[in-house]
Amino acid sequence: MDILQKIAALTHQFSEESQAFSQGTAPTEPFRLRWLGKKGLISEVFEEMKTVDVGVRPQAGKEINVLRQGIEGFLREAQQKEGERRIHAAIEARHVDPTLPVLPLTRGALHPVTRMRHQLIDVFQRYGFSVYEGPEIESDFYNFSALNMPEEHSARDMQDTFFVEGSHSLVLRTHTSNAQIHAMLQEKPPIRLISPGKVFRVDSDASHTPSFHQLECLVVDRKISMSHLKGMIDVFAQAILGPTTKTRFRPSYFPFVEPGAEMDVACTLCKGVGCQTCSHTGWLEIGGCGMVHPNVFEAVNYDSEEYTGFAFGFGIDRMAMLAYGLPDLRQLFEGDVALHRQFPLYTA
Ligand code: DAH
Repeated sequence: MDILQKIAALTHQFSEESQAFSQGTAPTEPFRLRWLGKKGLISEVFEEMKTVDVGVRPQAGKEINVLRQGIEGFLREAQQKEGERRIHAAIEARHVDPTLPVLPLTRGALHPVTRMRHQLIDVFQRYGFSVYEGPEIESDFYNFSALNMPEEHSARDMQDTFFVEGSHSLVLRTHTSNAQIHAMLQEKPPIRLISPGKVFRVDSDASHTPSFHQLECLVVDRKISMSHLKGMIDVFAQAILGPTTKTRFRPSYFPFVEPGAEMDVACTLCKGVGCQTCSHTGWLEIGGCGMVHPNVFEAVNYDSEEYTGFAFGFGIDRMAMLAYGLPDLRQLFEGDVALHRQFPLYTA
């Protein structure tokens, strides 16, 4: 069989195969490979062309090109049909009816941390507290030194700190306690404020994220005592976690208070009996507190003989987890819509 006969035979074969192919739903790729692939039928003929008589080459070349273009055109159409079939199959499989009218937009929800922050502000405002926001990028003075943590003080090791590149004295604040100093330098007593906001530490595991939220509380006046502190902790814990919530102090150390304490609430799950969540102690630690240290008053030029004050700080995220029953802190920062949909808008 010479090359022209071979081309004619292939043309015939293609015409029969393509007709049969159009009637079925076979995938196009094997067909393409068999005809137009590197080792396909068309390449084979082109290969053969190298050895044929120079006289028949132009005609053979023309015919084989016509055949190839025919195959290409056919394949384009077949591939398009195949794509449409795939889309229809996907639509069928998902039972989507594209002719239905669109659903009305669902209402957004507040992030659990935002919602908790609103709830907390609401509680404290009822007791006459004002909301004061401190800066997130902070100087060493406000974040540490003025809070009785001078340079080289080992208490600075308690908070793994992000430093601002190229600066020796700027940090991402490690706690909201910096707001105490700003407020006291701007105002004279009496002071009654809360300061919610973002804080940052070099920390990341199941119960720590590098950025989290705290709420700071500061009261300064004449004759402020530890019982005021205890009373205010009871008030907010009961407002947020339920009216029968118990709280307790545990002696602890924070440089900016004396005496200092950790504040605990009775475990929200087992109500103090002891369970896995509270490591069988019946209590959950929520934050730190104490009576403002005289050195802190000195740093802001307050007379510590005349004034006393209390301060506390705790994690808003942790409070949201306890109040809303969330098992993993990281859930709060994954942006999972399914989680957020569970929190309708909070109206105070
Ligand atoms: N700033 C402390 C921290 O982030 C928490 C804290 C402890 C705040 C005692 C206070 C306080 O106001 O009195 O670990």
